[in-house]
Amino acid sequence: MASIQEKIQELKAMQAKVKLGGGEKRINKQHASGKLTARERIDKLLDDGSFVEIDQFVQHRCTNFGMEKVEAPGEGVVTGYGTVNGRLVYVYAQDFTVIGGSLGEMHAAKIVKVQDLALKMGAPIIGLNDSGGARIQEAVDALGGYGKIFYRNTLSSGVVPQISVIMGPCAGGAVYSPALTDFIFMVKNTSQMFITGPQVIKSVTAEEVTAEALGGAMTHNSISGVAHFAAETDEDCMQQVRYLLSFLPSNNLDELPLKSTDDDSNRTEAALDSFLPDNPNQPYNMKDIIKTIVDNGEFYEANIYYAQNIITGFARFGGRTVGVIANQPMVMAGCLDINASDKSARFIRFCDAFNISLVNLVDVPGFLPGTGQETGGIIRHSNYSQSLRRFVYGNVL
Ligand code: HXC
Repeated sequence: MASIQEKIQELKAMQAKVKLGGGEKRINKQHASGKLTARERIDKLLDDGSFVEIDQFVQHRCTNFGMEKVEAPGEGVVTGYGTVNGRLVYVYAQDFTVIGGSLGEMHAAKIVKVQDLALKMGAPIIGLNDSGGARIQEAVDALGGYGKIFYRNTLSSGVVPQISVIMGPCAGGAVYSPALTDFIFMVKNTSQMFITGPQVIKSVTAEEVTAEALGGAMTHNSISGVAHFAAETDEDCMQQVRYLLSFLPSNNLDELPLKSTDDDSNRTEAALDSFLPDNPNQPYNMKDIIKTIVDNGEFYEANIYYAQNIITGFARFGGRTVGVIANQPMVMAGCLDINASDKSARFIRFCDAFNISLVNLVDVPGFLPGTGQETGGIIRHSNYSQSLRRFVYGNVL
């Protein structure tokens, strides 16, 4: 019978194997493509030494297409919890070095467990996505796994902040869960999101497009509006997620985080008297006003590249988080259109759910007139004002 020492050595060997994921060769490939591994990303995201991994030794149960011979250390996803600036968060990071980070039944089960724990503990959940989508060999078992994740995304919606980070190719089913979460980060040049990739598109419609043009970080940050934040590198992205979390409460019953500030709440700004031009047709930059009035000029803008005729983002007054919404006279005279309505309505709903006060800076000439807007459903999309009304009246009543 093995001694305790032998058993400890055996455990350590098993842990080392899991930590190596898909092996040196695939890790080198990951690095060569400018990406960190799942574990390196978690290290950058969480406070030093705070990560507690769970379900390290979970294995898949698939026997289709010779899968019984395929080892998948960690099942292609690293899960657990830790802290960001001392506050509890749950995290999962898909490991592209293991079967392309593809999602099978047990991979999904690991994600589902951290989703359940995050909801139970009232802590944010952050998903680091780097996946080829449903693991083809597992067929409907993989799809069933996605269903369980999506269901928990809906249960968590408005209860704990859900943050998705796209850090590689996210194809097919890999994009739906992020779309159900509150904020999506993407890393420039190394991340893509699409439901059908370039090859499928070419074979169905003959349209030719690169993966980057179809679903790269800037496509989704500036054209589709699917993503809220763009990062230069994996490291930059993890820092930005930490920064966003510094503004958010841990759940919908939690106090807003309070940041000590030396910015006097009674500060008056003479500069504000000269910001507005005498000529109403002359634009000015609303961001200058925002930065003048908020604590220490610190403003973290969400959807910075999308529907720039409206500005959304987080700042603080007296150390407490506020959501800022402001028309931007510099872009399309600050008028409201379909995209601005969608962008701001979503932001307002998030702030409403998490008790974040809104500061609304208004200078708007009205809705953008035109057949494009009317036939595009501006009436339906302009629930921006409906969301705002609900927010204002809801708080008054
Ligand atoms: C199983 C997969 C996989 C998948 C990648 N791999 N995606 N295995 N199921 N979905 C494996 C590859 O076979 C390869 O294994 C390894 O992961 C790395 O992939 P590569 O192709 O070598 O990497 P790369 O060239 O970087 O291309 C990445 C990729 C490509 C763009 C993601 O792999 C790809 O197109 N994959 C399929 C994407 C897809 O069609 N997904 C949709 C699934 S259907 P080896 O052993 O060779 O290293 C779906 C519907 C869900 O998701 C609906 C939910 C309701």
